[in-house]
Parts: sequence; C-alpha cells; structure tokens
Amino acid sequence: MSLRKVVCTFICLSAALFAMILGEEEYKEVLIYTTSNRALSELREMENSYMEHLTSYVKSLQKEVDTLRKYINSVALEKLESEASRVQYVANPLTSLGLLRRAHEDWPKWLKYIKEQQDVQQMGALVALMPHAVDMNEALMGMERIERFYDLRAYDLVNGQVAGRHFDTRMNAPECLVLADFMYNRTEYTRAAEWYRLTWNNIRLPLNPVARGFYRPNREEVRKRFLISRLQEGSIDHIKDYLEELEQHPAVPLVYLKPKPAASVIERGCRGEFPPPPQLVCRYNHTTTPFLRLAPLKEEEISLDPLIWLYHDVISDSEIAALTANLTYEDMTQGYTDNYTTVEKERLFHVKVFEGSGEKLDRDLVNRMTDISGLNAGDHTHLARMNYGLGSHFPEHGDYSDIKANPELVEEGDRLVTFLFYMTDVPLGGATIFPKINLTIQPRKGSALFWYNIHNDWEPHLLTRHGVCPMIDGNRWILTKSLMAYDQMFVKLCLK
Ligand SMILES: *[C@@H]1O[C@H](CO)[C@@H](O)[C@H](O)[C@H]1NC(C)=O
Ligand SMILES: *[C@@H]1O[C@H](CO)[C@@H](O)[C@H](O)[C@H]1NC(C)=O
Ligand SMILES: *[C@@H]1O[C@H](CO)[C@@H](O)[C@H](O)[C@H]1NC(C)=O
Ligand SMILES: *[C@@H]1O[C@H](CO)[C@@H](O)[C@H](O)[C@H]1NC(C)=O
Ligand SMILES: *[C@@H]1O[C@H](CO)[C@@H](O)[C@H](O)[C@H]1NC(C)=O
Repeated sequence: MSLRKVVCTFICLSAALFAMILGEEEYKEVLIYTTSNRALSELREMENSYMEHLTSYVKSLQKEVDTLRKYINSVALEKLESEASRVQYVANPLTSLGLLRRAHEDWPKWLKYIKEQQDVQQMGALVALMPHAVDMNEALMGMERIERFYDLRAYDLVNGQVAGRHFDTRMNAPECLVLADFMYNRTEYTRAAEWYRLTWNNIRLPLNPVARGFYRPNREEVRKRFLISRLQEGSIDHIKDYLEELEQHPAVPLVYLKPKPAASVIERGCRGEFPPPPQLVCRYNHTTTPFLRLAPLKEEEISLDPLIWLYHDVISDSEIAALTANLTYEDMTQGYTDNYTTVEKERLFHVKVFEGSGEKLDRDLVNRMTDISGLNAGDHTHLARMNYGLGSHFPEHGDYSDIKANPELVEEGDRLVTFLFYMTDVPLGGATIFPKINLTIQPRKGSALFWYNIHNDWEPHLLTRHGVCPMIDGNRWILTKSLMAYDQMFVKLCLK
C-alpha cells in the first residue's frame, strides 16, 4: 500500500465522519447503550428476556422444591446425634453400602440438579452484557444536560414535566439519588441539594426484606448529603433554614442561592430563544441538473452568510426504512467528537459509515447530493448514519478541519460542504443550532440541510460552527456526508 493510500484511508475516514476517532486505546470500548436509541431499545429487549427468565426460574424453582422434598422423604433418614448410634448404623453392611452409594452417586447429582438452573445461567449471560459504570455515567450526563440546557426544575423533571412535554413517568428515589450524587461529584451543590431533597421526599422502603436490602437511599445518609451540599455553597449560620428546607415540599425553592450562571448562546438556541429568522426565499429550483428538471427541489434559503439551504422531501420513507430498519447495535460503532474542531473528546452517538463505493441506495443518495449541489461527490460514498441516545447532543464544532492548522490533511482538501439529511422527526430537543447566526433547525423527516464550511480562499468559515441540542423526545436518525474541496477541482470555481 502506497503512503498516499494509507494517508487517504485515514483522512477519508475522518473526513466522512467529522465526529469519529477510531482505535484509540483509552477509548477501546466497553458496551455503551446510552448513546443511541437503537442500542437502548436492544437493552429494553434484554430486560424482556431477563424478566422472562426470572418468571420461568420461579416456576422451575417451585418444581424443584417439590422434587427435592420427594427425594428427602424417600431417603427418610433420621438424624443420628450420638457417636454410638452412628457406629451402630454403619455396623450393618447393607446400610453402610447404602450410605456409600448415596454419597458417591446421588449427592453430586442432586447438587448438579440444583445448580443446573437453565434460567439462572441465561440470566448470568444477560448480566454479563449489562451496562457498565461508564454507561451509567453517560446516562447521568444526558439527564444533566437535559436539565441544564432547557433550564428545567428538578421537581418538574421528577414528575415527567419536561420542557412542555408531559411524560407519563415519575422518577423514584434511587433514580433521584444517582443524579444527586452525580451533581455533587460535579460540584454542582445547589442542583445536588435539590436532587437530595427529591430523593428524601420519594423514599419508599420496600416491604420485602430482601428488596429492602437492595434499596440504596438511606434516610440519614440522604439528609447528611443534603446538608453538606447546602453548606458547600452556603453558611453554617443558615443551617436551621437548610434543615427546614428538607421538610418542605420539594417544589418550594431553596433559599440563599447564588445566581444561576447566564445561559450560553447554544442553550438559548435550544430553549427556542433566538430571534425569528429573516424571511428568505423559498422556491422550486429546476435549474442545476437534469434530475432537478424532472423532480424540482423544494428549496429554502436559510442563510446567506454562511450559505445554508434547506431542502424538503429529498429522501423517501422507504429509503429511510432501508437505511435504519435493519441496522443493529452490533453493526454500529461509537462516534466521538474529534479534537480538530472541539475541545474535549466526548462520546456522541452510534454511527455506521459506508466506506466503499456503496450499494445502489448509497449511490442514489450521493448522486442526489451531486444533483442538489452541482458539486462532485468523489469516488467513495462515505455516508454516515447516526442515531442519538438519551440526552445525546453534539457540542459546538465546525466541520472544517482547518488545513492550515492541520497540514497533514492537505491531500484531500477541507470539507467544503456538509450535507445533513434528517431521517426522523424529532418532536422535542435534538435541534441543529448555528449559534453564531442565531439559527435553530428542528429535524423534519425527509429534509436535508446543505452548507459551505469554508470561504473561497479555503479559510474556515467560523459562522458555520454548529451543534446539536440534547435529545428529549423522539428518535434522532441522520445521514451525513462531507464533499471535499479537492474533489471540486474541475467543478466548483468559487462561491460568489
Ligand atoms: C461520585 O463520586 C464517588 C467517589 O468518587 C463515586 O464512588 C460515585 O460512584 C460517584 N457517583 C456518581 C453518581 O457519579
Ligand atoms: C438552484 O440551485 C443552485 C445551486 O444551489 C443555485 O446556484 C441556483 O441559483 C438555484 N436556482 C434558482 C432559480 O434558485
Ligand atoms: C429487514 O430485514 C427483514 C428480514 O431480512 C426483511 O424482511 C425486511 O424487509 C427488512 N426491512 C427493510 C426496511 O429493509
Ligand atoms: C487530539 O487529542 C489527542 C489526545 O488527547 C492528542 O494527542 C492530539 O495531539 C490532539 N490533536 C489535535 C489536533 O489537537
Ligand atoms: C443574535 O441575536 C442576538 C440577540 O439575541 C443579537 O444581539 C445578535 O446580533 C444576533 N446575531 C446575529 C448574527 O444575528
């Protein structure tokens, strides 16, 4: 393999997916369910199995109890307490033989019978696939984001009131407690205190003693952590008020709080606080290619600087089904932010990239991008399908890689254009945000965004920096591809 080929393999991959870094040791993955609804739904299916095995275990346990009782009765041994009575027992060669045979042959068999509970083994196999601590942490990060980005009250969240959406679900004390500890560990003491108070209010000790042993929230411990959280940002002079707070209704605001930090621009965008966009043109575009004369595009000009267009009905329901329906968690990999364009590395979503020349469908989609843009899509499809998960987001980033800062990327040129197809409606959360230009786009199934990432002189266009709001409700599937500057050598002359 020539050096160019090696370089290209690396760059093409990173180009296809501005979010992904593969094969780094620290991120060699454990299973992570939280970062896609695809994986979470498979976890839910595992829960079905787990409960089925548990139910079936109870049935077979009942049968086992009956069997063992019959065996015990059939042996009908009386317990011999004294040495003398036992000596007398073994003095009889027939009873001695019986003893020896039972111990040699029967005991291991009965033990094996008891141990060989199919269901227990299968539950063991499921537990081996259970979410790890890092996964749990991802889920807590997702919940924390939902609370922070949408400026929600913990009390509302617990009651299923999430940014105007009403879920028919309540959070229980163990769930409040993990969030409280998580906030505490992040030194978010006020938020931790709110979650500890909600834990305190929701403690319901199970009646069953075994279940009570599993139950984590402990009244005294929760009370102690609430007070420590309050004192971390408060004063010992107010301790009496803090103690009273704990007994108050959890909807009553805490007292003596520091002011909340101001919302970031992205947070304001996610809350729908951007000013309404200027009315730009919306039209049918018949001009660019023969394809468009047959099937005119519903084109909406979203922004002039940077150039952003939105196209409606450019991917059909059957194409979307083919792209998402049979894709399993197994088929997908974890997507990360890459540090060319973001600061910290984070897990984002699950992703599947077509790297080759593609199937017919991939080819069709790439051709459609070519038709829409009049640009050259290059030799490889590099289409990436992504599925977001619990509170998943994408921090602000640019899709350009900034060739000047990263000269190793020079062969391909930068990512000139980004195409983003929305394959699902997202009822709440999951908007695409361009914070520098006050723009929020809510995913609409079948539509596509298209924008230029760099200027004519190949300088990154900083106003194209964008992000994705944390998911609240729905299932976010997108399809994305970058068109590379290098591929446009004979096509694209300049932007304006
Ligand atoms: C908080 O930190 C403690 C101590 O490091 C750790 O044991 C615990 O798991 C953390 N809890 C959460 C929810 O992050
Ligand atoms: C159609 O789209 C192309 C490429 O996006 C653009 O250059 C052209 O001006 C558009 N035509 C009309 C009539 O809007
Ligand atoms: C998914 O796979 C099943 C079984 O192979 C097939 O019957 C079904 O049509 C596929 N669905 C889609 C949308 O491709
Ligand atoms: C990205 O992060 C890795 C590991 O933290 C570091 O080694 C590498 O230099 C970073 N790359 C850039 C372009 O900042
Ligand atoms: C974005 O909105 C803010 C007010 O919310 C305004 O000050 C700012 O100028 C706007 N920026 C652009 C690029 O429109």
